[in-house]
Parts: sequence; structure tokens; C-alpha cells
Amino acid sequence: AMQGAMAKAVALAPDSWVPGGKPDPLIARQHGHVGKPVSRLDGPLKVSGTARFAAEFSFDNMVYGALVYSTIAKGRIVEIDTGEAEAAPGVVTVMTHRNAPRLNPPPVFLSNPKAAGGDTLPVMQDDRIHWNGEPVAVVLAQTQEQADHAASLIRVRYAEETALLGFEEAKARGTRQGLFMGPPLHNEIGEAEAALAAAPVKVDATYRTPRHNHNAIELHAVTVAWQGETLRVHDASQLVAHTAWSMAQIFGIDAAQVVITSPFVGGGFGGKCMWQHHILAAAAAKVAGRPVRLVLSREGVYRIVGGRSLTEQRVALGASPDGKLKALIHTGTTAKTADNVMPEPFIMPTRSAYAAETMLLDVQTVELDMLANTFMRAPGEAVGTFALESAIDELAEALAIDPIELRMRNDPEKDPISGLPFSSHNLAEAYRAGAERFGWGARAARPGAVRDGEWLVGMGCATGTYPYYRMPGGAARITLRSDGHATIDIAAHEMGMGTATAQTQVAADRLGLELDAITFNYGDSTLPGVVLAGGSQQTASIGASVIAAHHALVKELLKTAGNDSPLAGLEPDQVASRDGGLCKLDDPARYESYASILRRAQRDTICVEASPPQPLETMHWSMHSHCAMFCEVRVNAVTGEPRVSRFLGSFDCGRILNPKTASSQFRGGIIMGLGLALMEETLFDERNGRIMNPSLADYHVPVHMDVPDIDVIWTDIADPHTPMGAHGIGEIGITGTGAAIANAIYNATGKRVRDLPITLDKLL
Ligand code: MOS
Repeated sequence: AMQGAMAKAVALAPDSWVPGGKPDPLIARQHGHVGKPVSRLDGPLKVSGTARFAAEFSFDNMVYGALVYSTIAKGRIVEIDTGEAEAAPGVVTVMTHRNAPRLNPPPVFLSNPKAAGGDTLPVMQDDRIHWNGEPVAVVLAQTQEQADHAASLIRVRYAEETALLGFEEAKARGTRQGLFMGPPLHNEIGEAEAALAAAPVKVDATYRTPRHNHNAIELHAVTVAWQGETLRVHDASQLVAHTAWSMAQIFGIDAAQVVITSPFVGGGFGGKCMWQHHILAAAAAKVAGRPVRLVLSREGVYRIVGGRSLTEQRVALGASPDGKLKALIHTGTTAKTADNVMPEPFIMPTRSAYAAETMLLDVQTVELDMLANTFMRAPGEAVGTFALESAIDELAEALAIDPIELRMRNDPEKDPISGLPFSSHNLAEAYRAGAERFGWGARAARPGAVRDGEWLVGMGCATGTYPYYRMPGGAARITLRSDGHATIDIAAHEMGMGTATAQTQVAADRLGLELDAITFNYGDSTLPGVVLAGGSQQTASIGASVIAAHHALVKELLKTAGNDSPLAGLEPDQVASRDGGLCKLDDPARYESYASILRRAQRDTICVEASPPQPLETMHWSMHSHCAMFCEVRVNAVTGEPRVSRFLGSFDCGRILNPKTASSQFRGGIIMGLGLALMEETLFDERNGRIMNPSLADYHVPVHMDVPDIDVIWTDIADPHTPMGAHGIGEIGITGTGAAIANAIYNATGKRVRDLPITLDKLL
């Protein structure tokens, strides 16, 4: 009986992230909310069209903005003729560098814990042009159509200068060590080149991945107003608090004077950070003295929102005949700009993937005169696993060992570079379960062996991985009402992944309440916390914040309960939340409801706010999500057309909080990986720096016809060292997918394609 009672009580969560700390009690399913496939709470708002997105808010007297983009990559504006545009119907203001307000440069992401910018370039402050597509004018008009038309009337004359645009040319001039979040992207264990040379079996190849652009369904948009001294911004954002702080720096005002709200976001993936449209809309609103709505066109997103940069990666593997890795070399070059901080860190997955005797990992960068590149779903891992896991498949072929068996022979017992133990590492189980469900045993080892009419059929697999992160700074507030309802306030984000739903489940379990007794408020920079929806770490961040706030709430409740309560004399670590109240952990009969505690104290509400301790867990453990990806392809022997016919993702990502929203995250990542493997490619003209396919007609992403039924399974093995036992799941799905598809194509055709995307011309 005591066991049963214990199982329903949620004790105060200890600090699972220090050695000796106890696992979060939510790892066990106490009240049954966590782990249930709860449908999205925002679903009805979405399907009924009542969810309001950034471009659907309006202000009185609002005008509409349109941008004019430079057509050269580098140089000066000699003359900008705005007369015709200013005289056009409905035009209110034209802003150029000549009349834009003086602004501070944007704080680039990672330069400060609250920075949100894509780069540090000054925005419309002088006549300089830094990339082809940089905004040179903002037109404000009474309607969007009038603004768009007037923008087309602006004539710009440039003095062009020679820009550095060619990747090969830039490499020839010399590369620089890549730095990612501080440390150099360079690791060495032993003498890898010598070990490679001495290895009896080896593969050594170069893999290339192209630029990718962000294509969230919702176009980037802001609706802004200066209300007295306050800048009010309706945004589509994955970092509201960061954006508020950053905008304040740019406009030289107090952070509290900027209010960013973003209740719904139509897709993020790393692209919905602060870019020039935020700054230009707010500046133009100042110039015009009127509120502004600025929605980027699809072309506009390509011109001013950075994407994933290109990479050229060498992977060289040396092995003994039994498949043990003697040498693992993963090096290469990526392009960035001089003004941003994001070298596509493609060696990240390789750091912890295999127990190789020697390793050499390195990312070099070149700096081009282009739009700043940025984070895109699993930056580093998405393209790094393509190269690494293609090479592993090539080695398996060279050794005549099954690719899964080869991976298992090199599955590391501890982190190969840091030497830290893994907090949770069940890749072998993910492979075992995945192989069984997918029918891996039916795969023909010899390439090109299976044919169905004019279709060549093949199977491939690959490992995916993504780190566990948790960022500091996320305070949460809990307000408990005398009717037993609780409100959680935190400046978090819902980009369609189910944050609000999963966090409502977590909070309900944590507080011992039903789902409908919880309100989860987010997406507002005036709420507590500095939370980033990125790095697949928002869930862990918020989870830790709510743990801290729950601690504070229990303390406050016990104080409030006083001597007449059945809880009198109990310390916080002796009680648990349960059934809408608190009880003694080892004597659940000693119970009082929240409502009763508040009533006796004649309180309407109890409100607490607290921050979690620093995220130290990654100093004690090597922490990663893993997956085993399985793909079946059919390649047309006549046309070369590749079709993914079956796909299975088998995940090891800790405790899954909501199987329904998690499945969608996994599938969404895999679909994006399918685009990476077969379609996506930004065409960057190296002669002039222009992106030549800035539309969804020219830049291909998977459509329904390209996507088979995608099967997803998971180990559901909790990580004892994270909040809720969970790992992030937003990015893992895109990792490993590209290689699984490339490996399946090899198995089907015998053709090894090492440059993405794998289009039909490469298979003929
Ligand atoms: Mo992600 S690329 O951290 O939104």
C-alpha cells in the first residue's frame, strides 16, 4: 500500500545533475500525465484559424513595409533615387541609410547570453554593401500592395568592389580554425594519420554538402509599434527575451522598454532569431511615427535570413580486419562571414560516436562576402553524420562486415575524447529493436542485387546523434489560486512542436493537478526567464525551472499552512505534491489540499518565482541523444529517380514525455533529412553572390508524394541525470537520415554519391 501511495506522490525533485543527486521523480510516471499521447492543447486554435501569428496582429494607423535588396555583393551605394517611390500612391515613408535613425550594431548570437542577432553588421547606417540581397530601402505604405509596388520604383546605382565569393578561391587564400561557442573545433587522440597509413583496411573520401535555406511555412514577420517609450513587437520567434534585450541594445534603450510576444510560430528550425527585418521595421516605425507590419516575402527570407553553410569534409577510417577502428579522421572546411559566429560544426557527432584508437577532428573556415549563415536543425550533426556514416558504410563494405555489426564493434563505453561516462547510451538497443522491426535481416549484402521491374531496391542504415544541452537563466513563476488552479509563467516558445502541451503535462504531474487545472503561459518577453528554443534544450531548461519553482512553492505552502494543518512541522523534503495538495511522503494520510491551505490563510493566491541551479550535468557526463536510422529506397534503373519507400527511426532519447508530439518531432526531422539527402540546395552564384533559387518552386523540399509512411520507435529509457529523464528531440531526427538514404542508394545501385543532394543525374 505504501508503495502505491509513494508511486502517486511527487517528491521535491533533487538535483539529478550532480553526481549523487537523485533522479527526477517524474522519471517514474506518478500521476500518469507524463508519457501520455496528449493531443496538442493549441490544436483547436490552429485548425479553426483563431491562433494569431505575428503578421495577424494589427495596430491603429498601421502601415505596411516592403524591402529593396541590393543587387551587388560588395561596394557602395552611389545614388539611391527614391523620388518616384515617394510619389507613388499610398506611400508614407521611404527609409534608406540617409534618413535611418542612428543605431548600435546588433549583438550577435552567443556573444552575450541574451544576444539574438544573426551577425554584427550595422543595419542601414551607411552606404556600404556587405552581401547580395542586403536591404537598401524600406518603403512604408497604406497597403502591402502599394508598398510592394513603390519598392519596385526605387533605383540604386552602386560602385561595385571585388567580392570574395568562390569557395575554392577562398580556400586557396587560406583557412582559419573554426570556433564554436568558444573552443576550437579541433580534437586529436594519438597520431591518426600514421595509424591510418598503417591500418590494414582503410577508406578515405571527401563528402560535400551544399548551402541550405530556411523554409518555415510561416514567413518571417513582425508587427511593431512605438507606444510612448516602449517598443512593442509581435514576432515569430524562438527567443523572445534575447530579442527584447538585443533590440534594446540596438536602439539604446532599457531592455524593459521592449516587449516581444510570440504566442504561435509557424516553424523555427534555427531561423526564427533576430534578423534585419526586426531592426528595420522598428527603425522605420520611428521615422514614420506609425506602427509597421513587415512580412518578408519568400524571396525576402532567402535574401536576409541566413541558412546552413556549405561543407567539404574528409572522412578517413583505418581498421583492423576485425573492424576495430585504428584511426578516425574527420576534417574539412566550411564557409561563414567575417561578422557571424557559426562555422557549421560538422565534427560534433564524431567526437562521441566511436571508440577509435586515434582521432583527428578539425573544422576550418573561410570567410565569404555573403549573407551570414546560421543555425539550422542540428547544425553540424545533420551534415556531419552524412559524411561520417557514409564512410562507416564504405568501411563495412571494404571489410565485408554488416554495417550494424561494424558500428557495434566500435560502440564506445565512455566518451572517447573527454573520457567522461555517458549519462545514458543505449544505441545498441536502438539498433537491435530497429533492425528487428525493419527487417534488416532481409538486406542483400551485395549492392544492386535486388530488382523489382525497373526499380533497384536497397536498404541502408546510419547512426544519428545530437548532444543534450541545458542553458542557464530560465526562471519560472508559479501562481497557485485558492480554487486549486496553477499558472506557470516562463518566456518559452511554441513553434509547433508541442511545448505548451508537454509542459502542461509535466507541470500537472509535478504539482499533482489535472491538466485542466494548469495554465502554461509562454511566448512573452515580460515573463520570467531567458529561454532559447534551440539546441533541442528548451524542454530540459523549462523542466529545471519548474522544478526550482515547485521547490519554492512547497516551501511557501508549508509556511502558509501553519500549525493547524495536518502538515504542521514538516520540512519541504518530507512532503510531496499529490491530488491537488501536499502530503507527507511516508504517510500520505497527512494531507491538505492547496485550496484548503490558502483558504485557512485567507490568501487568494500564492506566487513564487525561482531559477534552477547551474547546468553542471554536462561537466560530469557525456550526454547525447542517439538514433539508428533504417531506410529502404527504390531507384529507377531507367531514369535514375530515387524514391524512399520505407523509413524507420529507432530513437534513444531518454524518457519520452508525450509520444504523440514526440512522434511528430521525430518524423519532421526525418522528413527534413529526406530533403537534405535528395533535394535541398541553395544555388549561390559565385560570380555575383546572388542566391538564384529563392522560392519554393526552385528550391525543392519534400512534399507528400516524396514522403513514405515513417515508422518511429524509441527505447524510452530515462536518463537519470536530466530533468524528467528526458533528452531533447527536436533535432535528432535530421541526423543520420542523409547517410541512411545514401547508404540505401548504394545498396540498391552500387553507386556511392558523396555530394548532396543525391539527384537523379548523379545516379545515371
Ligand atoms: Mo535549432 S538549429 O537549435 O533551432
